[in-house]
Amino acid sequence: MIQRGANRIEVVQPSATLRVSTMAKELAREGRDVVDMSVGEPDFPTPDFIIEAAYRAMKEGKVFYTPTRGVPELTEAIAEKLRKENGIDVTPDNIIVTPGAKYAIFEAMMCLLQEGDEVLLLDPSWVSYEACILMAGARPIWVPHEEGFEDAPIEDYVTGNTKLIVVNTPSNPLGVVYPREFLKKVRDVAVDNDLLVMSDEIYEKIIFEGSHHSLAAMDGMLERTITVNGFSKTYSMTGWRLGYAAAPEWIVKLMNRMQSHSVSHPTSFVQYAGVAALKGSQDFIEDVVREFKARRDMIMEKLDELGIKYAPPKGAFYIFMDVARDSMEFCEEFLKKEYVALTPGAAFGVAYRSWVRLSYATSRERIAEFLKRLERFLK
Ligand SMILES: Cc1ncc(COP(=O)(O)O)c(C=O)c1O
Repeated sequence: MIQRGANRIEVVQPSATLRVSTMAKELAREGRDVVDMSVGEPDFPTPDFIIEAAYRAMKEGKVFYTPTRGVPELTEAIAEKLRKENGIDVTPDNIIVTPGAKYAIFEAMMCLLQEGDEVLLLDPSWVSYEACILMAGARPIWVPHEEGFEDAPIEDYVTGNTKLIVVNTPSNPLGVVYPREFLKKVRDVAVDNDLLVMSDEIYEKIIFEGSHHSLAAMDGMLERTITVNGFSKTYSMTGWRLGYAAAPEWIVKLMNRMQSHSVSHPTSFVQYAGVAALKGSQDFIEDVVREFKARRDMIMEKLDELGIKYAPPKGAFYIFMDVARDSMEFCEEFLKKEYVALTPGAAFGVAYRSWVRLSYATSRERIAEFLKRLERFLK
């Protein structure tokens, strides 16, 4: 029987996180008290006013096909948000709404990259960038961070084949909020070499220290930046699948073409929930950020006490830490002995094999339990 898929998917490796998460699920099924520090989604419910808006839209009969790029109410609300909050000078013609930010990333890469193209990726980076680059037929070029994780020598990795630089601030898995100087360097390298930039800003609201800067707002960047964002993290809407890209019109047109022949558009009533999310009160975000910060502080205190090195977690809800041994082995052993699930660093790049990512999108009680088990395991 024929059992070979197309090269474009055969080149993508199954996620390195899969082994650990499968083991964790099995242990939980056996009745073990597993502390899962590996999930990448907020543990808060979607705010009620957003749920009400989706329900209202359904009742009003907004249950049919929408324009491929999204309903005008939503593309207008997104353009307004980007102009006001991010200083990105866009109109609704620069916006395409997608089923999750992940699909915006996939779609943009499929539309812009091909064989021979190189993409600069900061090591470590979120898992799906590399997969999308490979599926598009291009080559990821890993750029190591400098000590402290707030700078990287991207200028040294540009070749005649470089087409795109990917930046994610605040970063998953690092939790780093890149300082303005680094983003300015990205800008200079992109402009000097006529490159495109993908700026994934999905964690922009979850920041404890430092401030968020949008690359597309910098001089000369509007015409070369694809800004990616979405509703999953800020509004606890991971399962709703709603994200977007803001880009020069020629890129939005290509993405629109691909979207019209693939997913068509995100679910109609989910788009109206998105309008409500952007236009409603944003006050709850402050409480969410305060809670994430308290959890982060709790973990940092213990890691400092245990002498564990980590990247400066100034945003998002992850800590990337050095366990000073093979991280896959560490994760498997920690899971088997203490029933704690973490994500091995190998999932996020090439250089950080002794590092692991923990997500603190879980209650303080579970975090306290994790810290107790970590201390016991290390002793
Ligand atoms: C950096 C980053 N970008 C994009 C996404 C995708 O988010 P969405 O749920 O909108 O597809 C995630 C989700 O984990 C992420 O961590």
